[in-house]
Parts: sequence; structure tokens; C-alpha cells
Amino acid sequence: MHLTRRQERILRGEYGWSMAKALEIIVRVGESLGAEKLIEIKHAHVSGISYLNIGEPGLKLLEELAERGGRASVYTTVNPSCIDLSGSSIIIDHSVARQQLLIHKALERMGFNPTYTCIPYLHRPPAPGEHLAWGESNAVVMANSFYGARTNREGGPLALAAALTGYTYYAGLHIMENRVARYRIVIEDILSERDYSSLGLWIGENIDDIPLISFKQRPDYGMLKLLFASAAASGSHALIIVDNVTPKGSYRLDIVERISIDGRELEKYHGDVEYNGSILGYVGCPHLHPHEFRNLVRLVMKYSRVRRGCGLLVSIPYKYRDYLTGEVSMLRLKGVDVVFGTCPIVSRLTRRFDLVLTNSGKAKFYLSKLHGLRVGLADTDVIVRSVMEM
Ligand code: F3S
Repeated sequence: MHLTRRQERILRGEYGWSMAKALEIIVRVGESLGAEKLIEIKHAHVSGISYLNIGEPGLKLLEELAERGGRASVYTTVNPSCIDLSGSSIIIDHSVARQQLLIHKALERMGFNPTYTCIPYLHRPPAPGEHLAWGESNAVVMANSFYGARTNREGGPLALAAALTGYTYYAGLHIMENRVARYRIVIEDILSERDYSSLGLWIGENIDDIPLISFKQRPDYGMLKLLFASAAASGSHALIIVDNVTPKGSYRLDIVERISIDGRELEKYHGDVEYNGSILGYVGCPHLHPHEFRNLVRLVMKYSRVRRGCGLLVSIPYKYRDYLTGEVSMLRLKGVDVVFGTCPIVSRLTRRFDLVLTNSGKAKFYLSKLHGLRVGLADTDVIVRSVMEM
């Protein structure tokens, strides 16, 4: 791999131990992928920061990097962690709060922005063609497919290394020749959140290359978030081109097959939706954008409160503590559990529910696979109606 003189000096340790270790990881991975050089990035997004996922070894590594001079070289945001940063949730478990806060301390000491959200584009929307190094699969697909930026789907350690050095390897989706759609999927009429999530899960399971999707009607922002997150959960997608959405010039087409999907094929992803026992409604995977959050507040206000034995969990970025406090209080007065900077997938729940109802295919995928819960897909209005009383 060709390295600049500055990069060689970093590797020799002239910029400190943490930066040298970080660059070594990037160079090794880049060489294994045949990258000919490193490129500068504009924004790193670090995932994998939940204590429940990385444990003591992860905490110790972050503390050591911070202690030995590791500092962000570029604008860096971080993913949700395993605790509700408002401290008021009764559904999200707080038993490892001390350890999780030590992780936050190390990250912030390195100069990472305390965003604790999986929608980093809320803090800094990427520009078309810009190179990034993002972890968090839903954000990666959004960056490539909605914003036309360029990032591979990085694991937590690589995104961290890119944050410390400001570089990533030039391979994969950073190169235009690798941003080529070979399948065209034609969607006639899907409108609901449940259908977009189901479509995403179907794509993840059935399409192993970059697809181009043509919708009859341009999907809105919230539907695209659900679609992209779901496909990235059940598959390894990092770029899904959508007609009239993905910026022109950020991809190429070489269509070899046209695929249509029957709505009935999507039904198998709906899961359990009929149940009368204790239901947890969950909205906010990926974290809600302010306008999605305000729509939810309007919906919830039509009801008096959360039904006894049920729950309604809503996950939002940490940033909203500064300016959506009125809306958060309105929901909490109705018994809604609004959590900041976390989600039920990267954390633990304090109690079991008979069924989780969510609008998110990604949440359904992980809550059933990793947490062993019964999960059904439903639109937000159905979820709210199922867990709240008039
Ligand atoms: Fe975000 Fe958690 Fe879903 S990190 S994308 S809300 S799994």
C-alpha cells in the first residue's frame, strides 16, 4: 500500500501510541482488501459502544486509548449505549450504568461528540461524494443511498481507528466502480411502515448485490429509514439505490435482472400481531427524527394513557433533551417510556412482555434473534392503539 510521509510517521509512533495502533489496524485491513492507498474522511461514526456488547475488555481498551493520548482527528459521533441518559426509564435496565458511563467518559475524553444516536446524519448530514467511516449499519445505508456519500460498513474498532487517524482504506464503496446496481426491483403499491420494513427484511434475505428499487410513489424519509435499516439487519447491504432518491452521479447501473415482488411474499415477515396479553409497543429504531417524534406525540395525545400491563417505549437521540423537553413530558404524563441515547436492542429490558409490537423490521429482527422475544410488525398508529386506552 502506498503511504504518505505523514502516514509513515504516524505508524512510527511520532504522533503517539494510540494513533499508531489505530493506523496499523486500518493499514492491515486495507492491505487484506487490496487497497492501494488510504483516504481522508470527513466524519467518523463509532458504533459498538454498549457495555453489554463490549464488556470489560472494550472498556479497558477505550480507557487505554484515551489515557495514551488518543484524540479524534475528524468530526466523530457515537452510537447509542445501553442506558437511558435521562435516567428515568422503568423499562430499560440500568444495572451496568456505572460501567457504561466510564465508556462515555473515555469516548468524550478522546473528543468524540456525545451524540449517542444511530442517526448521525441528524448532527451532520453528509454531502454527496464525501468519504466517511461509519459503523452502524442503518446509518451506513442512509449515508450511501440517501445522501450519496461514500462509506463502507465498518465494524466498531475500524470506525474508532478512523476517528483517531482521520483516514480509512480506499476500497469497497469508496470506489465508484463498486457502486453498481445489478438488480432492478419494481414495487407497485406499498404504503405502510410495516410493508417498508418487510420489504427491507426481504431484500436483506434475498438479494446479495446492490439493488435499484423503483417505487410508483417516492417514499418519504421515515419509510426509507425503516427500509434501509431492515435490509441492513437481515442482510449485509450498505447501498440500496432508490430511483428519484439516491443522488445521480453517486452510482452506476448495469441491470442484469428485473424482479417484482408480490405483496403476499412480504406478509411472512409480519410476525405475531394478534395478541391480548401484555404488549410492549416500541417505536424509534432507528432513532426518531424530530418530525417523526412530533407526529408520534400528536398520535399519543388522542389517548388517555398506556394500558395497565402494557408499555410504550420510544427511543430518541440524546440531543433532544435540549429542545423537545415539552413533548417528552407530554408523553411521559401519558405513561410512555421515552428514552434518550439508547434502544432495547443494545440494552436489557427490566421485565418480559408477551409480545413486542414495532414498526421496525430491524428491531423485529434483533429482538427476536438476539433477545428471544415474540415480535410483530405493525404501523405506529396500530401500535399506539394496541397499548393505550381512550
Ligand atoms: Fe438504532 Fe438501536 Fe435500531 S442503535 S438502528 S435503535 S437497533
